[in-house]
Amino acid sequence: MAVSPPSTCMPKFYITTSIPYVNAPPHIGHALEFVAADAMARWHRAEGDDVFFLTGTDEHGAKIARAAETAGKDTRAFVNETSQHFRDLLDRLSVMPDDMIRTSDTERHWPGAIEMWKRMALRGDIYKGMYKGLYCVGHEAFVTEKDLKNGVCEDHGKAPEYIEEENYFFKLSEYAEEVKRQIEEGYLKVVPRTRANEVLAFLAGGVEDISFSRPAKDIPWGIPVPEDESSTMYVWCDALSNYVSALGFGTSSDERMRRYWPCDIHLVGKDIARFHAVIWPAMLLSAGLPLPKKIFVHGFIHSGGKKMSKTLGNVIDPFSLIDTYGTEAVRYILLGHVSLFADSDLTLDRIHELYTAHLANGIGNLVSRVSAMAAQYFEGEITRPSDALLASVPFKSDIDLIDARDRDLKVGGVTAEWFIRENTIPRYRAAWNEYKLDEALQEVMRLFRLLDRYIQDYEPFKLIKIDREKTQAILWSLVSGIHRVSRLLIPFLPETAAAIASAVGVSLDQTDEAVEKQTVYAITRGEPLFPRIEKRDGK
Ligand code: MSP
Repeated sequence: MAVSPPSTCMPKFYITTSIPYVNAPPHIGHALEFVAADAMARWHRAEGDDVFFLTGTDEHGAKIARAAETAGKDTRAFVNETSQHFRDLLDRLSVMPDDMIRTSDTERHWPGAIEMWKRMALRGDIYKGMYKGLYCVGHEAFVTEKDLKNGVCEDHGKAPEYIEEENYFFKLSEYAEEVKRQIEEGYLKVVPRTRANEVLAFLAGGVEDISFSRPAKDIPWGIPVPEDESSTMYVWCDALSNYVSALGFGTSSDERMRRYWPCDIHLVGKDIARFHAVIWPAMLLSAGLPLPKKIFVHGFIHSGGKKMSKTLGNVIDPFSLIDTYGTEAVRYILLGHVSLFADSDLTLDRIHELYTAHLANGIGNLVSRVSAMAAQYFEGEITRPSDALLASVPFKSDIDLIDARDRDLKVGGVTAEWFIRENTIPRYRAAWNEYKLDEALQEVMRLFRLLDRYIQDYEPFKLIKIDREKTQAILWSLVSGIHRVSRLLIPFLPETAAAIASAVGVSLDQTDEAVEKQTVYAITRGEPLFPRIEKRDGK
C-alpha cells in the first residue's frame, strides 16, 4: 500500500470510498467505486496535491453476524476471511489506497466511533426511547411502509423485521434545517445536482430522530455504547465514523485528522446518499466537527437492462473479468464506459467488444504499429524534424472525428503536438475539473483514433520507399503523440501509461517543459499491451 510522504505545503486532498459490507463477495459495483476513487486520487497526486485516499470494510451488524452463522464460522474469523477478499480486489485492480480501515478493528476504529458518540451525547443529542417499527437487515436500516412494495423491501426481496425495543436515539431532527442550509448554500456539495435535489426533497419532508443503537442481547456483534454495554451502536453510526477514525480521531495520534479533515470527497453509491448527506453531516455538526466538502454520489451498474442478481444470472464478477481481460482493461471499462453521474449498463458481450475494439485493435495496435515502423525504418531512433518538415505533414484530423465545438479551431494544417496542447489537453482537464472521468478518458481515446487516422492519411509504410525524411516527420508526430497520451492515461491506466512511456524511452515523471523540449525518442518494441482474446462460449 502506498503511503504518501508527509507534506504540509502542498494543498491536501482527502478522498474516501464507502466501506463495503463483508457478508458477501465483492461485486462489480465495489470495483467501480474503488477504481473511480483511485483514479481521482492519482489525478490529484499528479497535480501535486498531498493526497490521502481511504477505503475500508464495514464488518459489524446483524447482516454480517448472520452470514457468519450461515457459514458456520466464528464471526471474527469470518470477517477476517471475507474482508481479505476486498483487499485482494484492491490489489488486482491496482487500486492503491493510503489506508484501509476495518470497523472491527478495536484499536484503530473503535476509539473514533466512541469519541463521536461521546461528543454527541455530551451535546445532549442522544437520548433513550422506545423504537417500534420495521428494520431491513439487508439495508441495515429502519424502514417505513413507504419504503416497501407489498410489504417487501424491493432491493432485498424480503419483508423487514418488526422490532419493539428500547434504543438510544439521535436528535437528527434538530440538525435537519442546518444540513439543508449547508447544502443549499453550497458549503456541503452533493453532486450530481439531481442527488442534491433528492436529498433536499427528503429534508423538506420533515426528518425524525433516528434510533442509534440496538440491544446487545440481540446484536452483540458491534461496538458497545459507551457506558452502557447492554446496547450496541447502530451499525451506520459505527460505519460512518470510519472516515474520521482512520485519521486517528479519538486517539492521541490524530495528526492525520488535523491535516486531512474535512474530507474533500466521499464517493458513495446512490442507495446510501442519504446516510452521507443527512445523517453523517448531522453527526458531525453535533460532534462539533467541520462538514465534508463534497458527497459525490455515483449511479449503479446494471446488466442487460436489469439489476444484477444471482437469480437472473447476470452478475458480473470482477475477479473473473480481471482473469480474462487483465487489470488495465477492467479499469478501462469501468472508468471509460460507466458514467459516475447516472446508472450504466454493462454486459459481458459489450465488455468483450470494447476490449477488442478500443484496447486490442485500438491502443495496443497503434503502439505496436508505430514502434514496429520506428524499429524497422529508423532503428528505433526518431529525432525531432525541422518545423518546416513537420508542417509538411500536418495533423489533418477529420471533421467527422471532431465535434462542432472544435470546428472553429484550425484543425487541418496543425501539428499533432499543437492539436494535443490546444485541444485534447484543455478538454481533458475540463472533464477532470468536474470529475467526468469517462469523458476525460474518452478524450484520450479520441486522440488515439486521430493518431490512427493520421497513419491512414499518410501511409508511412508506403511513403518510406519514396520520402524518408517525411516518413520520419510522420513518425515523430505519432511517437510524440503517443508520449503525450501516456501522460494522460496515468490516473486511469497506470500500468499502460508506464508501458507506453517505456516503449518510447521516456520517464513518466517528466515535467511538462521537459516533454515539450524532447528532441529524440529511443523506441523499443515490447510485449503487446492488449493481446487479442478469443471470446469464449458463454462469455
Ligand atoms: N456498508 C455500507 C456502506 C457504509 S459507508 C460508511 C454499504 N455497503 S455495500 O457493500 O452495500 O455497498 C458499498 C458500495 O457499493 C455503495 O456505495 C453502493 O452504492 C455500491 N454499490 C452497490 N451495488 C452497486 C452497483 N450495482 N453499481 C454501483 N455501485 C453499487 O452500503
